[in-house]
Amino acid sequence: MTRSHTKILVDGGDPQETQRVKELLGFVDGQTTNPSLIAKNPHIRELIASGHKLSSKQEMEEYKKIVRTISPLVGDAGVSIEVFSDEKTTAKEMLSQGTEMFSWIPNAYIKYPCTEEGLRAAQLSVRQGIRVNMTLCFSQQQAAAVYAATKGAPQSCYVSPFVGRLDDIGQNGMDVVKNIKRMFRKGDGHVLVLAASIRSLDHLLYTFMLEAELATVPAKILEQWANKNFPRPDSQFEYKSSGTPIPYEELDLEQPWEEFDIKHELTRKGIEKFAADYRATLSRSA
Ligand code: E4P
Repeated sequence: MTRSHTKILVDGGDPQETQRVKELLGFVDGQTTNPSLIAKNPHIRELIASGHKLSSKQEMEEYKKIVRTISPLVGDAGVSIEVFSDEKTTAKEMLSQGTEMFSWIPNAYIKYPCTEEGLRAAQLSVRQGIRVNMTLCFSQQQAAAVYAATKGAPQSCYVSPFVGRLDDIGQNGMDVVKNIKRMFRKGDGHVLVLAASIRSLDHLLYTFMLEAELATVPAKILEQWANKNFPRPDSQFEYKSSGTPIPYEELDLEQPWEEFDIKHELTRKGIEKFAADYRATLSRSA
C-alpha cells in the first residue's frame, strides 16, 4: 500500500484491537484514547461487571497499563492520553495530571480540552516540553486559539477537530478540517491537524484529500478501508455532505489566544460526557 500524507491513528482504548489493526494495515502510526474509550476497554468492563470498585488512583493505574501496552505498538504519532476534566477542573489540576501522564510512556501526547482552562494548561505544558493534543475542537476559532497558545512549542502540537459530532448536529463537520488547514497555511506549521470523530470511509478519504497531517479512526472504519483494499481519493472523488456548510473565517493567528471566541456548546457537552463515562468506571463507590 502506498502511504498517504495523513498518518493513521487508532481511535480506541483496547491494546488487542490496536494489535489487530496493525496486523491488518501492516502499520499503525499512533493511537488516541479518551475517557469514554477507556471505559469500554474489555478489562475495565470486566472489573466493573465483577463488582470491583475502582478508586480514582486505581483507575489511573489501569489507564497507565493500557497506554503502556499500546505505546510500543505504534509509530511516531504517539499515544494521546486524556486528562480527566469537568467544568470545574482548573488549568493547574489539568497540568498536574498531564505531567504525571506524560511520564508514563516515551511517546505520549496529553489531551486537554479546547476550553480556557485547557488552553492555559496547554500553554504551560508546551513550555515544559510536554506534547499536547487539543481535543474537543469544533471551530476554526478554537484551532486559532490553540495555535496562539502553543506558539513557540519545541515540538509539534495536535489539534483535533471532531467531524462526526458536528455532522450529528446537522453541520458539515469536514468543513472545519478544511478551514483549519487553510488557516494554518499562513502559520508556522507548529500545529498539526488531527481529524477526529471519523465515522465513515468518506470522512477518511476526504481527510486524505485535504492532506490533514493525521486522522484518528475507529477500528471498524479501518477494517472497511482494508476490505476495500485501501482506496485513496482519486481525481473524481467528491465529498458529499447534507450538513450546513461552515464558512471560512479570516482570523489573525498572531493575536493573543484569549481574544478568540473559543466557546462551543459541543465542547461543553463533550466534557460532560467524558466526565460521566469516567465516573461510571469508578463504579458505585465514587
Ligand atoms: C478523538 O481523539 C476522539 O477520541 C474521537 O475521535 C471521538 O469520536 P466520537 O465523536 O465518535 O466519540
